[in-house]
Amino acid sequence: MASVFQLTVLLLSFSLLISSSVSDDEKETHLHFYFHDIVVGVPPTAMRIAKATTTDVSLTGFGALVMMDDPLTEEPDRNSKLIGKAQGMYGLASQDEAGLLMAMNLVFVDGEFNGSTLSVLGRNAVFNDVREMPVIGGSGKFRFARGYALAKTHEFSLLTGNAVVEYNVHIRHE
Ligand SMILES: *[C@@H]1O[C@H](CO)[C@@H](O)[C@H](O)[C@H]1NC(C)=O
Repeated sequence: MASVFQLTVLLLSFSLLISSSVSDDEKETHLHFYFHDIVVGVPPTAMRIAKATTTDVSLTGFGALVMMDDPLTEEPDRNSKLIGKAQGMYGLASQDEAGLLMAMNLVFVDGEFNGSTLSVLGRNAVFNDVREMPVIGGSGKFRFARGYALAKTHEFSLLTGNAVVEYNVHIRHE
């Protein structure tokens, strides 16, 4: 009986050690980049894939769904260094204003985060100055990630719908 008790104590102390090392190893990372949503371009990087029967008469475009594979670059210039892609969808989810539901993976292709991803799910009221969206997870170097993304429009064309958006992403991860 004594040995079972000792084993239990040993196992418990191991699990305590494991849980205490989790918080010690956590890193904090800040990422800064520009997101290019090219609706009209050669090639476009964002395209509408669905709409509701009422979308075209909705002042806010309610009911439209767009799929994107948008480049993320170091500088506002589209031809500056590519650091990743924003792959996912946004839907026009508000009947009162231009309010998007964003569901996207940020897929990094450069430097120490090459091959790692972050998943963002949140609300993006595109005409607000700064929008905050939760980062709900990650992979690779970003395992256990959580944090937030701040999006600020750098350039927007009413004519084409093309946008360049500055992103500041703050995360804690393994
Ligand atoms: C990123 O990783 C891929 C796959 O491992 C590799 O082919 C590519 O050269 C890397 N890119 C950079 C810029 O390091």
